[in-house]
Amino acid sequence: MDQVNRRSFLQTTGTAALAASAVVGVVAAPSAAQAFAANERIRIGFIGPGGRGFGAHVKTLARIAKETKGIELTAVCDVYSVHRDMAAEHIEKETGFVPKKYEDYTDLLADPNVDAVCIGTPDHWHAKQTIDAMKAGKHVYCEKPMTHTIEEAMAVVRTWKETGKVMQVGVQSTSLPVWDMVRDKIQSGMIGKLLGFQTEYFRNSSMGQWRYYQLTKEMTPKTINWDKWLGVKEGLAPDMPFDREIYAQWRRFWPFGAGMYTDLFVHRTTSMLKGTGLRYPRRVVGAGGIFLEYDGRDVPDVATVVADFSEGAQGLITATMCADRTPVKQVIRGHNGSFEFGNGENFKEIQFLAERPQVTRNSKLVDEAIKVDDIGDSTYAHFQNWLKAMREGKQELCNNPPDLGAAAIVVVTLGSESYRQGKAFFFDSETGKVSEADASWAAGWEKMSKARAKPHHVAGWKGGDTGSVLEEPEYMKLAGAWKDGNPPMGG
Ligand SMILES: NC(=O)c1ccc[n+]([C@@H]2O[C@H](COP(=O)([O-])OP(=O)(O)OC[C@H]3O[C@@H](n4cnc5c(N)ncnc54)[C@H](O)[C@@H]3O)[C@@H](O)[C@H]2O)c1
Repeated sequence: MDQVNRRSFLQTTGTAALAASAVVGVVAAPSAAQAFAANERIRIGFIGPGGRGFGAHVKTLARIAKETKGIELTAVCDVYSVHRDMAAEHIEKETGFVPKKYEDYTDLLADPNVDAVCIGTPDHWHAKQTIDAMKAGKHVYCEKPMTHTIEEAMAVVRTWKETGKVMQVGVQSTSLPVWDMVRDKIQSGMIGKLLGFQTEYFRNSSMGQWRYYQLTKEMTPKTINWDKWLGVKEGLAPDMPFDREIYAQWRRFWPFGAGMYTDLFVHRTTSMLKGTGLRYPRRVVGAGGIFLEYDGRDVPDVATVVADFSEGAQGLITATMCADRTPVKQVIRGHNGSFEFGNGENFKEIQFLAERPQVTRNSKLVDEAIKVDDIGDSTYAHFQNWLKAMREGKQELCNNPPDLGAAAIVVVTLGSESYRQGKAFFFDSETGKVSEADASWAAGWEKMSKARAKPHHVAGWKGGDTGSVLEEPEYMKLAGAWKDGNPPMGG
C-alpha cells in the first residue's frame, strides 16, 4: 500500500470517524417489520458472492431453498464477473431458478423481485450497502465486521431503527445456545459480580496471515470493475492502481479492514458481549505490532485490546497470527466463580469453576461441567434465525442484531485506532462519541471505592447482592487517622 494513500486515509477516514458525533441515542424500540405470509417466498439477492458470500451465503441458502421452498434466490451482484457467474450457476444448478445478474449493487437494490440481501463484500463496503439496502426496503444479512468505522456502525443502527428492517450481522457463533445460557446464569447471580472476560483468536501460517488467498490470472481490470471494488467515488477508499494482491488479500491493508482486530477479534468479542450482557465499552486501549510478518502488510500480527466497561468489568482480547499452540483460555470471570470455555467456538460443555467457600460463603457452590446443546452448523442456524425473524417480521429475533454488532465494532475498532494513534479512547454510549481518555476513569473508580459504593451490574441482573458484597472484618474498626497520639476508636 502506497505511503501517501495510507497517510491521507488515516487523516481523513480514520480520524474523521473518531471525531464523528454520530448519535446512538436512546432511541425507541425498533419499529415493527412487515411479516411474510406463511406461503409467501422470501426473495433473496446476493451482493459480493466471493469467498464467504459464495461458500456460506449462496451455498447455505441454496440448501435451505431446496429443503423448504420458502425462499427464492433471485439475484446476484459482484464486481468480479467470475464470482458473479459462479454464484448464478450454482443457484441455477441447485434450485432450478435463474437469478438476475448485476455488476452494480444499486441495480440489484432497485430490483422489485428482491426482498432481502446478503452482503459478503469486503469490510469497507458493508455500511454503505447495508444502509442503502434498508433504505430501499430490503432486509439485510451483512457479514462481520458490521462496519469499517464507528461512525458507520452508529449510522447502521440508526437506519435499522428508522426503517424497521430485519438485520442480521454475520457472527454465526451468536446463534450457538451457549451464550444465552451463560447470560441467564450470570444474571441469576451464579458467578457473583461479573468482573470481565478474556478471549482469543490465535493462528499460524507458513506464508503470513491471509496470504493464502490466492491471486489468479483471471483477476484482471477486464473481469473486475476496480472502481466499484474500491469505492473511491463513494468516499470509501483512496484511489490506487489495480493490484491482485489488494483484491484478494485486502484484509492486510488498513483502507479495507483492520487485520485481526476486525476480522477475527470481532467474532469472539461479539459472543462475549452476548454471553456477559455487556455492550458498549467506556474505555479502550489497543496494542500490538508486526513482529514477524514483514510481507508488506499494514496490520499487526500480534495484537491485544483491553476494554473497560462502566459496569465494572474488563474485556481482554489477545492473539498472535504467528503461533497457535498456546492460546489463552476463553473465560468469563465473576467474584464467586468463572466459566471456562474451550478454544474455538463449538463447545460440547463448559466448566464452571467455583471460588473457595472461604470467599463465597457457600459450600454448595462447586465446580460443575455444564453440557451445551449441539446445534451442528452455526452458519446454517444463523441463516435460519434470520429467515425466521423476517418471516415473523420481528427484528428482535435476530441473534446478532445491529446494536450488538455496533458494540463489538466499538471495542475492536477503538482497539485498532488506539494501536495506530498511540492513544486510549473513551466512548460515550449515549451520544456515540469517541474522545481521548484521561485520568478521570481511574479517579471515578477510586471515588466509588472511598464512598463504599455498590457495584454496577449488567443489564438484566437478577442476582441481588450475590457475590457483590465484601465482608467488613472486625479489625477494620481499628482503622482511622490517629489524633494527638490517640487511636480513633480508643482501642
Ligand atoms: N462469518 C465468517 O466466518 C466469515 C468468514 C470469512 C469472511 N467473512 C467476511 O466476509 C466478507 C468477505 O470476505 P471474503 O473473504 O469472502 O472476501 P472476498 O474478497 O473473497 O469476497 C468479496 C466479494 O465481494 C465482491 N465485491 C467487492 N466490492 C463489491 C461491490 N461494491 N459490489 C459487489 N461486489 C463487490 C468481490 O469481487 C468479491 O467477490 C468480509 O467482510 C469478511 O470479514 C466472514
